[in-house]
Amino acid sequence: MIKYRYLLDFNSDNLETEYHDVLIIGSGIAGVYTALEIPEKYDVAILTKETIDISNSVLAQGGIAVSLDKEDSPELHLKDTLYAGAGLCDEDAVWVLVNEAASNIECLCEYGVNFDRKNSQELSLTREGAHSKNRIIHAGDTTGKEVCDKLISGVKNRANVKIKERTFAIDLLTENGECRGLLAYDEDTSRYKIYLSNVVICATGGIGQIYKNTTNPEVATGDGICLAYRAGAELMDLEFIQFHPTVLYHPENKSFLISEAVRGEGALLRNINGERFMPKYHELNELAPRDVVSRAIFEEMKRTGSSHVYLDITFKGKDYLENRFPNIYKTCLGYGIDMSKDYIPVSPAEHYSMGGIRADVYGGTNIKGFYACGEAACNGIHGANRLASNSLLEGLVFGHKIGNAVDNILQDNEKTGVSVIVNTDRVPNDIDAEKLIKEVQEIMTQYVGIIRNKEGLLHAKAEIKKISDTITDMRNSKIKHFELQNVVLLAGIVIEFALEREESRGAHYRSDFPCTDDINWRTHIIKSAPSVR
Ligand code: SIN
Repeated sequence: MIKYRYLLDFNSDNLETEYHDVLIIGSGIAGVYTALEIPEKYDVAILTKETIDISNSVLAQGGIAVSLDKEDSPELHLKDTLYAGAGLCDEDAVWVLVNEAASNIECLCEYGVNFDRKNSQELSLTREGAHSKNRIIHAGDTTGKEVCDKLISGVKNRANVKIKERTFAIDLLTENGECRGLLAYDEDTSRYKIYLSNVVICATGGIGQIYKNTTNPEVATGDGICLAYRAGAELMDLEFIQFHPTVLYHPENKSFLISEAVRGEGALLRNINGERFMPKYHELNELAPRDVVSRAIFEEMKRTGSSHVYLDITFKGKDYLENRFPNIYKTCLGYGIDMSKDYIPVSPAEHYSMGGIRADVYGGTNIKGFYACGEAACNGIHGANRLASNSLLEGLVFGHKIGNAVDNILQDNEKTGVSVIVNTDRVPNDIDAEKLIKEVQEIMTQYVGIIRNKEGLLHAKAEIKKISDTITDMRNSKIKHFELQNVVLLAGIVIEFALEREESRGAHYRSDFPCTDDINWRTHIIKSAPSVR
């Protein structure tokens, strides 16, 4: 699937070089929290391809799952996570997630995060899909922003953490199968640069930009997963893509999330004719697991020949909605939708990748010196479908574990050196990267979306290969070109995973294999790249 090990021809000996004890790629919750959890004696650099405040995490609305209520427990949180994960979660990893949730939330409060409270002692808890208890803590409907703002100001105050904005990580540098650092492009100086380190942590977040409609920001082109793959890292579970059921469907905006918390507060789903339909699909109705709700919406849209359904919370008063969901209320109003009076048009859009770089709970991968956490990683906590509001939590719990492991990893640390020379016969080109990315998004949306089958997947594979063939030998120089290479590579990988899993499970639904097959398929698919020059 890949011809060249590196996206760029270069000679590391001729490039400016910078050394850090730890390199973190990505500035979402996983990246920034990990940086804060690393002992201050270590010199850490966070590389982020835009500004530090642009990430998927910042856009997270609903909240963070944690069993704080006296009726609740980590055991119940575990049970709900396993149920949503449809038999594919790694139970040991989920134990870590649910048991270490509360201590990390305490830590967030110490960093100054202001969650909504019932009173001065207790945090407010709401419910989301497939949770058996109210256990979602939140900060209005902009939880991710509140958390990230506080964590970002934390890292800005840490003398040992350097923030490198507009720095695009192109490829990992490996020698003898070990990671020694990475090659990056600095947009401000238009220069390539070598970053050396014995610990590189990938926290680059999601892959939403391989689809046409996604709640992810534009930066979510899966660069971390692709650089890991080219370096030989194992990937896992990438057939499982979560489509959030309720994303605004408006001619001017098809990416704004209408949080599941709105359904948690009682909102109903209605089809284009105004009929409520969830009771006929699942006993948990609007609060069924996300994959179930998204498929039900998809079916209703197909049945009624419509491009969207409606979310109805008109039975709640304006004051209540403005107060509980200030951001959603204001944004909808901006499009002429007053959610206290009007149904909100919604349809599913890509939201989260359950799969990613195969990692253990300390972020360790099969490449020495290379670690992964957050959405870019896959340690099996989500199985085939992530439980709502487990994602910010994942960034915290496993960021904390890696941060704390760094002391051990860096014992007897010696500064790395590396010499990599890449010289291929790639040629300059005038390819329209944006146009080709759009083509990939169309293909993935049409054939590798909520419902898949062999015929469609094979067609998608052939179409992606055609695009891949036109760009493989091009000489890359701009970030858009690197992103195009990554989007095409990742699309091909997701298709391979989806073709291989001949059953339906969680977020992966095959109309040609509509049943779950526990005999042959209760297992993860793992793939790594064949070695290339
Ligand atoms: C939401 O607010 O619906 C998103 C929360 C999540 O993805 O877990």
